[in-house]
Amino acid sequence: ETEEFLAAFQARIDAEEKIEPTDPMPQGYRRTLIRQIGQHAHSEIVGMLPEGNWITRAPSLKRILALLAKVQDEGGHGLYLYSAAETLGVTREQMTEELHAGKAKYSSIFNYPALSWADMGAIGWLVDGAAIMNQVALCRCSYGPYARAMIRVCAEESFHQRQGYEIMLTLCNGTKEQKEMAQDALNRFWWPALMMFGPHDGDSAHSEQSMKWKIKRFSNDALREKFINATVPQAEFLGLTVPDPDLEWNEEKGGYEHGDINWDEFWRVVKGDGVMNRERVQMRKDAWDNGAWVREAALAHAQKRAAKIAA
Ligand code: ACO
Repeated sequence: ETEEFLAAFQARIDAEEKIEPTDPMPQGYRRTLIRQIGQHAHSEIVGMLPEGNWITRAPSLKRILALLAKVQDEGGHGLYLYSAAETLGVTREQMTEELHAGKAKYSSIFNYPALSWADMGAIGWLVDGAAIMNQVALCRCSYGPYARAMIRVCAEESFHQRQGYEIMLTLCNGTKEQKEMAQDALNRFWWPALMMFGPHDGDSAHSEQSMKWKIKRFSNDALREKFINATVPQAEFLGLTVPDPDLEWNEEKGGYEHGDINWDEFWRVVKGDGVMNRERVQMRKDAWDNGAWVREAALAHAQKRAAKIAA
């Protein structure tokens, strides 16, 4: 790739032009997008598991319907994102194989177990809340298909965030035991939710280049701080305590200071050694194997139809 080519590409980015699938682009730009969109798609798909497990145990018909719709949305987001990645020259089969082989990353958050009904509240509120904070920025990503996919995804995520917060609100207005369940869920999900934004800016391998290419519009730390500032008042409204004794409002910067994140835990989970990593990947493999007959039947049906049309 010549200096000239790279400079011309950067000029398009700087002029806020959207890059489309058939446009020339540096190999690194393509690779970064395949990596990020692929990981993002896997996160949506693996993200169906902790909540899918609670659909049959939700406490009322209304709760079952809302949770079912949410989990189906996540599946839809995954498919959207696989399609966006495919515009860059990778296939869904390749991405799926990498996930099943334990080679592809997906968000660390989904390697934590969902132990109680209150976790459905905490996941919707915090995990989808963190996801939106990150994805609203991605609506302005320089790569057209990714940016456009994010618009619908964000609209749906905001429903997910509200359904989660409403579960928390109901529990917090309920019995003492219900409020304790809500607090316990917040205690377990707060720090993993903060880790979703990735390593501190200084330790983030890809941030600088991704910001230059306007794939990322805000740094990991900037989005994490925005999330904390938006979420702490929501916890206060619920009457819950954020499990960070060092959390403190800083008047000067107009935001919160927070305690240290356990990065050893973060990297352990990212590298495959969290509580649920093995089980999550195994569940995806099982779903793939158990669905083989559906794929075969759909293919046979399509071939029959094509033969009929040709005859
Ligand atoms: N979980 C797992 N891996 C992570 C996480 C995390 N929370 N945060 C960072 N990493 C990985 C990166 O993927 C990268 O790994 P790689 O080099 O093997 O690909 C490595 O840690 C270094 O991190 P960064 O240099 O900061 O990586 P990047 O610039 O890609 O930033 C981020 C990470 C913010 C997650 C970015 O990829 C992103 O915005 N992705 C799209 C959003 C997304 O995937 N959301 C998923 C959760 S939300 C949901 O699905 C409901």
